[in-house]
Amino acid sequence: MTLDELEIKCKNCTKCGLCEGRTNLVFGYGKKDADIMLIGEGPGENEDLQGKPFVGRSGALLDKFLASVDLSREKNVYIANMVKCRPPKNRDPKPEEQELCLNWLREQFKIIRPKIIVCVGRISAQKLIDPKFKVTQEHGQFIEKNGVLMMGTYHPAAILRNPNNKELAFQDWLALRDKIDELGIEI
Ligand code: URA
Repeated sequence: MTLDELEIKCKNCTKCGLCEGRTNLVFGYGKKDADIMLIGEGPGENEDLQGKPFVGRSGALLDKFLASVDLSREKNVYIANMVKCRPPKNRDPKPEEQELCLNWLREQFKIIRPKIIVCVGRISAQKLIDPKFKVTQEHGQFIEKNGVLMMGTYHPAAILRNPNNKELAFQDWLALRDKIDELGIEI
């Protein structure tokens, strides 16, 4: 199955209650065979309206970080979220909603086959790296899981709330760039 075919199937998903509130399902966006995959939390208002991930203020900051290390969703990165439909009032997606949505993410992963996954924020880092993951303590550290390198970093929304963390987050993106170069990944 191709990513486009998977997206068409996913658009009809009614596995959890989040489907009831969606304007658009936000499947993911970016290079379809990217070596770098970013995984956020879930769509917010703008994402729900446009059907694309990270298109609001957080997205603009994320794009700035990516551009600063020569990465972009147009050229070499794929961006998805833990849940594909907007949680009401932007609350955290519930564990059961994440669990029900995880299979779509697994299928995306199997098609894209990224070499590095960056968990953008606590929600995806705790689900995909370690349930006890603490962004403040473990951000920027790479660990290998089933042959894939994983790293968690600050969510851009958290940086917009607390700009003091911007420099620390920038260091994580630099570390990603170093890792790409160290592994000789051609992007
Ligand atoms: N925050 C996320 O985690 N994902 C989005 O797509 C937008 C904002």
